[in-house]
Amino acid sequence: MIIKPRTRGFICLTAHPEGTALNIKNQIDYVRSKGTIANGPKKVLVIGASTGFGISSRIAAAFGSGAATIGVFFEKPAAEGKPGTAGWYNSAAFEKEAQNAGLYAKSINGDAFSDEIKKQTIDLIKKDLGTVDLVVYSLASPRRTHPKTGVAYASVLKPIGQPFENKTVDFHSGVVSDITINPIDSQEDIDNTIAVMGGEDWKFWMEDLHNAGVLADNVKTVAYSYIGPELTFPIYRNGTIGQAKNDLEATTGTINNILKDINGQAFVSVNKALVTQSSSAIPVVPLYISLLYKVMKQKGIHEGTIEQMYRLFKERMYTENGEIALDNEGRIRVDDWEMRDDVQAEVAQLWKEATTENLEQISDIEGYRNDFFNLFGFNFNEINYDADTNEVVNIPSI
Ligand code: NAI
Repeated sequence: MIIKPRTRGFICLTAHPEGTALNIKNQIDYVRSKGTIANGPKKVLVIGASTGFGISSRIAAAFGSGAATIGVFFEKPAAEGKPGTAGWYNSAAFEKEAQNAGLYAKSINGDAFSDEIKKQTIDLIKKDLGTVDLVVYSLASPRRTHPKTGVAYASVLKPIGQPFENKTVDFHSGVVSDITINPIDSQEDIDNTIAVMGGEDWKFWMEDLHNAGVLADNVKTVAYSYIGPELTFPIYRNGTIGQAKNDLEATTGTINNILKDINGQAFVSVNKALVTQSSSAIPVVPLYISLLYKVMKQKGIHEGTIEQMYRLFKERMYTENGEIALDNEGRIRVDDWEMRDDVQAEVAQLWKEATTENLEQISDIEGYRNDFFNLFGFNFNEINYDADTNEVVNIPSI
């Protein structure tokens, strides 16, 4: 079928199998061009492995370190006349590239919050790998059904206390407008968001994996967090999602206790703001990202998810001397270039100036849009989007 982008707000309803495969290939080529990660992970479980930071973590581990990978994700398969989701095609492309390179790669498609998917994953590790030495936790979801109680939680993206008034952009049209986001109604909004995006599920995974004996001695696990600039604090770090991130970060202590007898270590890595399916859903953030891209590209320090994840493994988690640099709160930082004073000062200045009229000049809204469409396999010059493509693509291991 001929597949074109069909968007609804910050969601793209279609994905292109050849375009997404090219996106994966480009990421693999980047990692290959950078060389191997000495002392890198060898048997890796990635939870949330199909898009954004998760697929890039999987690629960096496999092609940077020769790792066998198991990926867990929740995606819609392709069917005749109905394209699959981007994460489905990404994973299909990844597995094929891994196979060609002689690397083990298998995937599990289902709800990672459930006990059933945890059990399936454990059984697969036992059968094929014995143990894993790295567990990447890269889930981003708007809802979670609690596996023990059956309660369904929905997260909210709201400030706490005061309404938040600021600028935002519709990245399709480039229209900059004022927005007021009302604060939470009750503590329940915070609790629900923590239940979805906090650390409990990460802890459940690590407990179950440990109890099943499928974690190697000295295992590492890493989950991803975000801080960002003051201007997004009300909606991000001091908002409901920030409370969930605090909870996630605090969970490293709990997991370190669980893993003590096998000398395991839990980390949180604070990553850079990037265009992903999840970040485009957060108000105000797309405008910030489009200004940030402009400044970081001008300075030659822009990175995408693959550059971030390669740097995380090579220069943070698997350094040659074995040392892992942490900030005062015990977190790994790969948002260090984003948070540089000169970068933030320039973004803050541009933020004040940004209007619909000057946006194309002073921001990289074009780069934002391009990245957004690339996530779904669109906007690649190499692909002929008027040509028929086979939408039914299978993931070899599923
Ligand atoms: P994403 O939306 O691209 O990826 C989310 C992944 O989770 C996908 O693989 C999806 O299939 C999987 N997933 C969602 N619900 C699932 C479920 N119930 N069961 C199994 N898999 C499920 O998101 P992104 O942006 O890569 O986020 C990953 C992590 O990185 C999140 O913790 C996010 O907060 C964090 N982060 C994101 C930043 C950004 O700017 N995008 C910046 C810093 C941190």
